[in-house]
Amino acid sequence: MVIVDFNETALKETVDELKAAGYEALGVKVDVSNNDDVVRMVDESVKAFGKVDILVNNAGVGDNMQAAANVEDATWNRVMNINLNGVMYGLRAIIPHFLENGGGTIVNMASITGLTGGRGGLAYTAVKHAVVGMTKNVASQYGPQNIRSNAIAPGNIDTGFAGTMTNIDEFGMKAATRATNLIPRAGTVDDIANIALFLASDESSYINGVALAADAGWSAY
Ligand SMILES: NC(=O)c1ccc[n+]([C@@H]2O[C@H](COP(=O)([O-])OP(=O)(O)OC[C@H]3O[C@@H](n4cnc5c(N)ncnc54)[C@H](O)[C@@H]3O)[C@@H](O)[C@H]2O)c1
Repeated sequence: MVIVDFNETALKETVDELKAAGYEALGVKVDVSNNDDVVRMVDESVKAFGKVDILVNNAGVGDNMQAAANVEDATWNRVMNINLNGVMYGLRAIIPHFLENGGGTIVNMASITGLTGGRGGLAYTAVKHAVVGMTKNVASQYGPQNIRSNAIAPGNIDTGFAGTMTNIDEFGMKAATRATNLIPRAGTVDDIANIALFLASDESSYINGVALAADAGWSAY
């Protein structure tokens, strides 16, 4: 298993945890918004394990809940560089490898914001819709080559994600959280990891091109 992160402390913690649980884990410091880093991630993974079967595009940051009228260029660019370019770099680097090996599985971390209109700022909503679009595009075009591409669309999950945002846009935050009283509970990391495992495994071999909402029914209302 290869773990990548640009935060060395988080990277080391995860690798140590996996090793302590008996898994073979390699940590590679990667900034997913840097194409060379992502190419190196695939190269080092192949070098260490011979081949790659599964890519999870998970890294992402928030957009400070900036509503359309309040979008700052720096925030927009950061969100696009990491959440959009990062996913594209991952797809572009892994697909030739999957084709060479007869197939592979991709799990992209979208968001319920990628399936609905008003649950995030403008940049985050746009970018997560794009992740859903890229997921379906790859499934549609490479499905015949035995590559499956699916996305998870989580609602509110208890992680360090809120810490990626500063100077929250009050108007955007208020608008985006209008219906949060309808969320039965915050999701856990395990809630989402279990879905990633399912989508990455052969248990889901007939599922390709979906973005699976994981929000305890929040967006069903
Ligand atoms: N937490 C939620 O409520 C929620 C809801 C929907 C979707 N998501 C999505 O889930 C994914 C994971 O987020 P999380 O909630 O675990 O947040 P998190 O901040 O706890 O974890 C994100 C991880 O990505 C890493 N990262 C950020 N930018 C990176 C970069 N450029 N290169 C490499 N690593 C980078 C961070 O260091 C961190 O370890 C994101 O794509 C996020 O948009 C989260």
